[in-house]
Amino acid sequence: TYVVTEACIRCKYMDCVEVCPVDCFYEGENMLVIHPDECIDCGVCEPECPAEAIIPDSDGQAEKWLQLNRDYSTQWPNITRKFDAPEDADSFKGVPDKFTQFFS
Ligand code: SF4
Ligand code: F3S
Repeated sequence: TYVVTEACIRCKYMDCVEVCPVDCFYEGENMLVIHPDECIDCGVCEPECPAEAIIPDSDGQAEKWLQLNRDYSTQWPNITRKFDAPEDADSFKGVPDKFTQFFS
């Protein structure tokens, strides 16, 4: 599976949603997550994310985020098309330690 990580928080560009063939993205207030059991591992979303927020679960950084993706994908609604990114999305691109923004 692929995993959405911290870099998505408050960027939420949603280009990933446009390309996913199985619609396995789920939408929270400030980020999206991937349902790990629905993702078919095609990898097409990874290069589409302007924030480079999507990584394969084989990546050493993935473990913590895999659990978060699993937990929230069962709670948040499915998202199947791209809407406008937040107006201030670019100001959060590449900013480290955004997890404090997760619930804001
Ligand atoms: Fe969807 Fe493929 Fe990305 Fe998985 S790897 S979330 S199936 S686009
Ligand atoms: Fe987030 Fe990147 Fe998708 S910022 S919403 S993972 S395109």
